[in-house]
Amino acid sequence: MALLEVKNLTLHFKVSEGWVYAVEDVNFTLDSGETLGLVGESGCGKTTLGYGISQLLPDNAHVKGGKVIFKGKDILTPSLKKNGTLNGYLPAIRELRWKEISMIFQGAMNAFNPVQKVGEQIIEAIRVHDKVTRQEAEDRVIELYKLVGIPEDRIDNYPHEYSGGMRQRAMIAMALVHNPSLIIADEPTTALDVIMQRRILAEIEKIQKKFNMAMIIITHDVSVVANVADKICVMYAGRIMEYGNIKDVFKHSANPYTKALFGGFPNLKGERKRLASIPGNPPSLVEPPSGCRFHPRCKYAKEICKKEKPKMVTLPSGQQSLCHFAKEVQGGGEF
Ligand SMILES: Nc1ncnc2c1ncn2[C@@H]1O[C@H](COP(=O)(O)OP(=O)(O)OP(=O)(O)O)[C@@H](O)[C@H]1O
Ligand SMILES: [Mg+2]
Repeated sequence: MALLEVKNLTLHFKVSEGWVYAVEDVNFTLDSGETLGLVGESGCGKTTLGYGISQLLPDNAHVKGGKVIFKGKDILTPSLKKNGTLNGYLPAIRELRWKEISMIFQGAMNAFNPVQKVGEQIIEAIRVHDKVTRQEAEDRVIELYKLVGIPEDRIDNYPHEYSGGMRQRAMIAMALVHNPSLIIADEPTTALDVIMQRRILAEIEKIQKKFNMAMIIITHDVSVVANVADKICVMYAGRIMEYGNIKDVFKHSANPYTKALFGGFPNLKGERKRLASIPGNPPSLVEPPSGCRFHPRCKYAKEICKKEKPKMVTLPSGQQSLCHFAKEVQGGGEF
């Protein structure tokens, strides 16, 4: 049984102009200990998808369909009000969050309260959920600091006394407080230099192996995905364009968006490489393009791409691609 199964998940935001179609019919699975890389240009719905899984969606988000099955149980449906918004007051949601699924937030470097000592903030996070003594909570913080590589004597420092890398490590410690089965890390290393990024990723991987944790890592950085992920979801304008094992997708991509995004293919041990910039801009998600959402920017687009929504195609190489011409694109030939 997969640890996490996301099935046909569709999440829309209500705004004054109508709806933002942020996440459409997303499907993937993740096993314990596995890492999924979630990539795609800014605004394509990565964070929203992460929030949908961890049940942190804002009030104007409506779940329009789909399920999030965690350890064999649909965790999302029971958390919804009749109109599809989250019932944020349910104790079950709070139990699940942090204890089972925790999130390292995008921009987490600034997530600590500047006027409270960092260690104190982590102790509070422990004691919200666990009935432990202060001493026990402190011991846990020391243990976590060791794990993420922050010297113990830094516990009594304020956030501004930490370097960027240290703050990021402290955020990771915070996410690990309750030994979750799944961590969703939203751009965990984007603001760091290459050396610090490597060190932190190595740290995360070590911890992940030790506890057999699954991870979804959201990033703009191809090399991060190449180095840490087992699987990849490439997202565009709310949709998964390609999904599969990292090697299949990198070596034999069957989707024009993936190909354009990676701008030729990174080798798996490659240097840090940003996603390529593709001519044109991602579309508005209030009025997404007809047919295939990528067709206005796709160099392979044909008439059918404007008119018909493509279906997910499973290729003999194993991965799935949302493209009318998945096989031809994979073949690389003219068509
Ligand atoms: N609360 C909200 N209300 C309305 N629209 C929203 C809300 N939150 C996000 N959006 C919109 O939903 C879409 C997806 O946003 P999301 O933050 O998930 O993208 P992202 O892929 O994480 O982008 P980035 O790489 O910049 O972090 C965007 O069009 C965004 O403007
Ligand atoms: Mg985001």
